[in-house]
Amino acid sequence: MEPEQSQFPQVRALAQQVRSAQLSENSGHDWWHTWRVYRLATWLAQQEGASIYVVELLALCHDLEDHKLYQGERIRPWLAQAGVATDTAERVYGLVQQLGFPGAGQADPQLPLEALVVRDADRLDALGAIGIARTFAFGGARGRELYDPGESPTLHQSQTEYRRSGKSSLIHFYEKLLHLRQRIYTPAAQPLAQQRHDYLEGFLQQFLAEWEGHDGLR
Ligand code: ADP
Ligand code: NI
Repeated sequence: MEPEQSQFPQVRALAQQVRSAQLSENSGHDWWHTWRVYRLATWLAQQEGASIYVVELLALCHDLEDHKLYQGERIRPWLAQAGVATDTAERVYGLVQQLGFPGAGQADPQLPLEALVVRDADRLDALGAIGIARTFAFGGARGRELYDPGESPTLHQSQTEYRRSGKSSLIHFYEKLLHLRQRIYTPAAQPLAQQRHDYLEGFLQQFLAEWEGHDGLR
């Protein structure tokens, strides 16, 4: 489903605002990421029987106040402008704070179904071919190297520690992406996660084989 064709006028209004703000962001957290998360999350919500209105709002808001990218308040004012009732807006705001990756050494918080669906959709977009593209786009935007053979991954015990990691893009696969398959909670998302996880594994194998010169031609 397209966000601008939602049955809810509040979702359509919010989608317009988010689209125009995020079209100018680029580091893998742009409008098209939000659009993919919205599409996956609404599909998962139908499969799992989650409340579609809250899922739509959460998907559109989930990266609006990511402090790696943006300082300041957007979620509550934009929900109010879109005509979302205060109690729903507060609920959405509270849930968005709990969606992020808490570090590979820390368990995920328990969440209601609506938030699980959006978190799974966000995680699916970090896997597979698109996940690979986003990781190197993010790394490039931060001036990170593709790979540094001297580095080894850390199992971060907190989100602050995880967010501070300044290593190469390839290390991000070991510090986050390869852990996500075990941290997908809705049954409908699991086969997709498995397939996208396997794609990452194949990519890493090929990348490291090429790096070492073991890819068969020499
Ligand atoms: P969350 O907001 O769920 O905690 P992040 O914003 O940290 O997730 O990561 C979202 C995506 O951004 C990652 O899946 C990856 O594609 C990219 N990304 C984040 N951190 C890094 C990093 N250190 N190196 C490369 N890519 C990153
Ligand atoms: Ni996201």
